[in-house]
Amino acid sequence: VRVFVPLDSAAVAVGADEVAAALATAAARLGRSVEIVRNGSRGLFWLEPLVEVETPAGRVAYGPVAQGDVEALAADGLFDGLAPAGALAGLFHGPTADIAWLKSQQRLTFARCGIIDPVSLADYEANGGLAGLRHALEIGPAAVVQAVTESGLRGRGGAGFPTGVKWKTVADAAGERKYIVCNADEGDSGTFADRMLMEGDPIALIEGMAIAGFAVGATQGYIYCRSEYPVAIAMTNRAIEIARTAGLIGAALMGRGPAFDIEVRVGAGAYVCGEETALLESLEGRRGTVRPKPPLPAHKGLFGCPTVINNLISLATVPVILARGAAFYRDFGMGRSRGTMPVQLAGNVRHGGLYETAFGITLGALVDEIGGGTATGRPVKAVQVGGPLGAYFPPALFDTPFDYEAFAARDGLIGHGGVVVFDDRVDMAAQARFAFEFCAHESCGKCTPCRIGSTRGVEVIDRIVADIDRAENLMLVEDLCHTMKFGSLCALGGFTPYPVMSAVRHFPDDFDRPALPAAAE
Ligand code: NAI
Ligand code: SF4
Repeated sequence: VRVFVPLDSAAVAVGADEVAAALATAAARLGRSVEIVRNGSRGLFWLEPLVEVETPAGRVAYGPVAQGDVEALAADGLFDGLAPAGALAGLFHGPTADIAWLKSQQRLTFARCGIIDPVSLADYEANGGLAGLRHALEIGPAAVVQAVTESGLRGRGGAGFPTGVKWKTVADAAGERKYIVCNADEGDSGTFADRMLMEGDPIALIEGMAIAGFAVGATQGYIYCRSEYPVAIAMTNRAIEIARTAGLIGAALMGRGPAFDIEVRVGAGAYVCGEETALLESLEGRRGTVRPKPPLPAHKGLFGCPTVINNLISLATVPVILARGAAFYRDFGMGRSRGTMPVQLAGNVRHGGLYETAFGITLGALVDEIGGGTATGRPVKAVQVGGPLGAYFPPALFDTPFDYEAFAARDGLIGHGGVVVFDDRVDMAAQARFAFEFCAHESCGKCTPCRIGSTRGVEVIDRIVADIDRAENLMLVEDLCHTMKFGSLCALGGFTPYPVMSAVRHFPDDFDRPALPAAAE
């Protein structure tokens, strides 16, 4: 019998390794022949460690399973997929595929995550893998760029630039060498989609990068990943070895296409290295500081060569577009936001995890219905969407659909899809201060509005909270934010005004009284 226990870092953090070991011990004691597969996570983090057992009728799920529950669950028929009785009955969720939280999703990018053995090429192929690359090699580079353009795919790192247009720019650029760079420096608070995919379905990323390389004429790909993701790095490296050995990448794509190889490069954990030009500096072996644009990386990127630099999710979504067609992908979504977004629900939320869905779902549906409100059971006060540089939205804006333009129209951004929930005890003045503080800490120092403005911002918020010339200082914050927004060289300084100004605008009361004591969880 096959039993699945995630190796995903979120599951391991709550004891998945110990549960896997306990399952092996229990199986041996019962004399059962059990294969324990370490899969990726299904993304239902509140049920981790989620143990799945393969039965003739499909997989059934148990979770959250504690190490101490394993003996009793095994004695109660876990290896036969049976529902336990008594106190452990609540751990049984029946067929995994029928769990409402999973069933209501539209999993395209994450279709295989949590289902397959992440480093089994056979499993990957049996679940739809490699169909995209095969099709790409049949239709040729220009048609691949065309398909990606027609699919409407936009950059999932946050800026939402059309991926097909970027690829066309690189395909058309003259250069002796071209590169594909995958931005896996997932630095946004409350985001984990890149990590989950590298841990749960790394071959999808390899396939997406191979398709990108073929489309634009690149011969080498680099995955730039933050050092905080050791499991993701190890899994991706193993997957690259497997792909190379199988002849998928290396001298010739799938044994017949042009040469394309991939390497993982590990960053040292600076947030700014997620900014594409700082990332390229770091890849080239220098300190991660931002380069002015132009030139765009598409024209002069890594080592001065035309470079496609895409977020990991953009690249990992390409195989499904090639396999199932641009029209299929384009059919999901709303307005100019086509396809699906792996939304990451985090913070003070009852049902946190990864929820992939078509664009257009409202923020309120995500937080209240999918997320189930706060984990503390208290009212939601604010939701920060798009990482530490994203705006805070109050429940009054919960009718905003998850869509690049709809968020921009309300002075927000969807960024990389991170949604962090706060209950009514959060002090928004403290959050505004934190935004400036974060910017000061992570600033690369290249430009004045960000380097100096962020530190001055902290001081001004402190004066507001201390009730020193409150009205004047609030005007000063607005003025400073204007300067940072329009005078900064990159999004770090340029987007810090989003959390600050949204906090001031939507939660004015928090700036009109002494600071609250920090809320205890
Ligand atoms: P941008 O708008 O300058 O560029 C977006 C992308 O399009 C870049 O790759 C750029 O090189 C490319 N591009 C622009 N014009 C082009 C053209 N004419 N031809 C070809 N390519 C072109 O935005 P930027 O500064 O790269 O990213 C800002 C975003 O990053 C923000 O929206 C924010 O949400 C996001 N972000 C994401 C983080 C994460 O952890 N994923 C962390 C911090 C910010
Ligand atoms: Fe560097 Fe900040 Fe300027 Fe970006 S905005 S270039 S991080 S100093």
